[in-house]
Amino acid sequence: MEPKERLRARVQDATLAVLPEGPNVEITPRSLTGAPSFDVRVQVGSVASQTTFQDSRALPNSSYFYEVVASGNGDSPASTPAAANTPTFGAAAYFYQQQLWQGTPAISEDVLERNRHLLGPGEDYWLAQRISRGVSRAPGDNWDHYGPNVIVDCVPLPLRERARLFRDGIDVVTPSLRRTPPDALSPRAKMHQYLNLVLADREVKAQNPDAWAVLLDVNGNLAEGQGSNIFLVRDGRLTTPRERYVLPGVSRQATIDLAGQLQIPFAEQDLDLYDAYTADECFLTSTSLCICGVRSLNGRKFGADRVPGPITQKLIEAYTEMVGCDFVAQYLARLDG
Ligand SMILES: Cc1ncc(COP(=O)(O)O)c(C=O)c1O
Repeated sequence: MEPKERLRARVQDATLAVLPEGPNVEITPRSLTGAPSFDVRVQVGSVASQTTFQDSRALPNSSYFYEVVASGNGDSPASTPAAANTPTFGAAAYFYQQQLWQGTPAISEDVLERNRHLLGPGEDYWLAQRISRGVSRAPGDNWDHYGPNVIVDCVPLPLRERARLFRDGIDVVTPSLRRTPPDALSPRAKMHQYLNLVLADREVKAQNPDAWAVLLDVNGNLAEGQGSNIFLVRDGRLTTPRERYVLPGVSRQATIDLAGQLQIPFAEQDLDLYDAYTADECFLTSTSLCICGVRSLNGRKFGADRVPGPITQKLIEAYTEMVGCDFVAQYLARLDG
């Protein structure tokens, strides 16, 4: 089979293999006032787990999406509970949704186990835990299960498709569509409401299919991409947009922590296009990218004479050490195939 067909077959297999049967999740609100708290019970076949959420992000009134990157070769967090906040997976298993994760280790581990054999050498999965408010009851309906649902799925990381970005850098374009403002819907919550980001990315890709969108916020400052946070470096100082306007991604936080350890001056602040055009370096962070250099923004190159620039490179090295996986090499290894 050609590599692309193989990949598609894998995705299909993976999807079929993880479809849960029958009622699979019960979420019981314990308190709807004050600090929200929920009992969540997840069951696939004979595997069940239960936990209590106290995190407001787990409120089942919308659709939330949690992701980690799981390696075919690494340990799973369920088998190393003491290390639940440490990077045990191949590429970037640095997860902050501990409560959810601890509540669904059995099901997540089961999904990974069922699909592990489909991974080729050096490949990793995106393992996602998605919480939705589920099907609402309507007269005449006859579903087996109503109410909130958790879906755990895994798909292979697009290593081949993205390899070039780790060689050349990403071309970023800011679309005309602005990021949803926090007074309409908080971008700080990780959720399935991606339409704003999807439409913005389509606008950019219609002009340049290889470019990645990074949206501006309603004030014209840099915000974030469809699944990534942005950083600039100027005169040795690292900056990123303020948390009020973006999802404070786990890779963004890991990068900020590493900058602290490396004594790289850092600030969260409003960054406009002037800041971007006069920056020396720029990079994106995300669970799947970890850190990837940006080559241009709206066609303008950055001050540093190479991508990734020297500060970005330092952070990449520290990140690599932190997650115990050379993610750049992992991507670059797919360049020729
Ligand atoms: C809107 C948005 N911003 C940023 C990110 C990056 O977050 P993380 O580093 O946790 O993957 C994501 C992740 O999917 C996202 O959806």
